[in-house]
Order: sequence, then C-alpha cells, then structure tokens
Amino acid sequence: MNYNIALLPGDGIGPEIVEQAVKVLKAVGKKFNHTFEFKEALVGACAIDETGNPFPEETFKLCMDSDAVLFGAIGDPKYDNDPKATVRPEQGLLAMRKKLGLYANIRPVSTFKSLIHKSPLRQDLVEGADFVVIRELTGGIYFGEPRGRTEDQNKAYDTCTYTREEIQRITKLGFEYAAKRDKRLTVVDKANILATSRLWRETVQDMVPDYKDIEVDYMFVDNAAMQIIQWPKKFDVMVTENMFGDILSDEASVITGSLGLLPSASVGIHTSVFEPIHGSYPQATGKDIANPIATVLSAAMLLEVSLDLTEEARAIRDVVDKSMEAGIVTEDITDGQAYKTSEVGTWLAENI
Ligand code: IPM
Ligand code: MG
Repeated sequence: MNYNIALLPGDGIGPEIVEQAVKVLKAVGKKFNHTFEFKEALVGACAIDETGNPFPEETFKLCMDSDAVLFGAIGDPKYDNDPKATVRPEQGLLAMRKKLGLYANIRPVSTFKSLIHKSPLRQDLVEGADFVVIRELTGGIYFGEPRGRTEDQNKAYDTCTYTREEIQRITKLGFEYAAKRDKRLTVVDKANILATSRLWRETVQDMVPDYKDIEVDYMFVDNAAMQIIQWPKKFDVMVTENMFGDILSDEASVITGSLGLLPSASVGIHTSVFEPIHGSYPQATGKDIANPIATVLSAAMLLEVSLDLTEEARAIRDVVDKSMEAGIVTEDITDGQAYKTSEVGTWLAENI
C-alpha cells in the first residue's frame, strides 16, 4: 500500500529524532511492502522565524492531505522568558489541535525493565504499571471564551466550557480503549466543585448502560493525582478533560523513569498526529545525543492507530526492545557505552 505521511520536525532536537523515525519507517516499508511518502512542513519557532506564523496555512494543508502526521517538538528558549511576546511557538500547537480537530491525546504509560531504577517511585510500586491516559484536547479552559483582562489590567479570567457532544466523543474513545485492554475506565473530574465536571459525570453515566462489560469508576482529580503515585498499577484507562489531563499525563509519564521513551497520539477528526511526549530539549540540539526512541515508538503508534498496520507496529516495538537489550542506546539511559542518535536510528532500521 501507499501512504502519505506529513513530517513536522519542529524545533530543537525535533529534526534529529524525526529523521531516525523516518529511517525506521522506510525499513518497515521495505520489509512489509509498503511505500511511505514523506513530505515536510514547518511548525513552531522555526515557522515563526520563516513565516511569522507558528502553524502556517501550508502546514495545515499538508496535514489535511496526509494519512497521518509525525511531529517532533516545538519550543525555543528565546520565547520562554519573554511573557510579552505576541506570537509564541505554543500557539502553533494549539492552532494545530483546533484546526485538525485533534480531540483526544492518548498517552500509554508503561515501564521498561532496564530503566525502572530511574523511577522516582519505589520499584515494587511502579514495576508492571501499564495504563493509558486519554486527555480531551480541544475544549475546556484552554479554548473557552471569554478570556482576557479587565480594562484596568488588574483582573484576568479564563473560561472552562464543555458540551455534551465533546464529552461523549472523548468518553466513547475511552470505552473503546478499555474494551481492548483490561476493561476498566476511570473518569477523572472535579464534580464536587465544577459545573463542567458535573456535566461530564452525568454524560458518562448516561453512556454506561451501552458498555456493560466495562467497569467504570469516578475520581476527583486531586485524589487521582495521589493515587497515580501510590498505586499506579491499579489504573487501566483514565479519561479526563484538557487541563487535568495535561497535568496528570505528565505526572503519569514521569513515574515510569522513561520520560524520554514515551510516545503519544493525538487523534483527530481529519487526521491524527503522533509525537514523543518530551519537549524540544534545546541544550542537546544538533549534538546527535538525543534519544530517538519516543519518536520511533510514536511512529509505531502511527502505523497502528492511523494506518491499521498492527504487525508492522509490533515489529518496531520489538526492535526497540532488542536495541535496549543489546545496549544500543543513547547516553541518557546507559551508564556504559553510549551511541549517537543517528547510530541508534540506523541500528533500529537495519534490525527491523
Ligand atoms: C502538552 C504541553 C502543551 C499543553 C503546551 C506546550 C501548550 O504541555 O502537550 O502537554 O499544555 O497542552
Ligand atoms: Mg503538558
């Protein structure tokens, strides 16, 4: 088969790590008889530098015309310390989510045996933890109106809104993931305080009868934050709104000790975007030392989620496991010999 894949390498280490994932995808294509056509476009700080827009129209069009999008990272320190900058790389990310209708961010949280000692938690607590955080990505306080400041500049406000349809759409995905896994869904909200959370809970409760084999429980977000630390193994699929999901998905990924290895998918109405959960790591840019594994595993999610190529995705996960066993890894995850970003990518491609 023929597939069109848009590449948005972005800023910092983005281009180096995306390059490795492309090597691996090409090897998969060869082995399984697929042709992947790659086309590249700008997003983030590099797009601002060239066009003044962090998510240019051309990039949007390319994404819309593609079967899936592989994304590196965005962000540049020159914007982080300038709260008055009117155009920011992060706006590119939000524009991409909104315009492509990327309503669900999916982050699998799993541990790697060889890295478990890097977890900030006790090993027996976290070893074997395996759950998925599903975050609503185009609603809530990130996008609600009105937002801004009063005229005297002394008061600011943001608005959190959710419609029943938005809640149904993301919850349906949560149920579907749970059905494929351990059949347990945890709905995280703040229904003791927020009106949006109460609508959320009511909407989910109305859906429960349609998913009889899924066990549903409800948890307030503060409690969920605690339980992720205390009993990470108890979760299977967690579904939550945008900002709670932003916070909990970072918390959940860091307890594995493998932040640099975790992929994510943002599932969209028009097309889906796959990206490593780590950022643009500006200190490492151009040094050929960044860990490409999270991006390579994002490519595996791309094959599985967008192109329905399950066996091909498994081949990528298998070769990643093999590379870790063989010690073909970058400096961040070894105390022994460290390989370069490009060497790890080449090894993976050659051993697929
Ligand atoms: C994320 C990031 C973004 C978010 C930022 C960079 C806008 O933290 O993807 O989780 O808050 O959604
Ligand atoms: Mg975040």
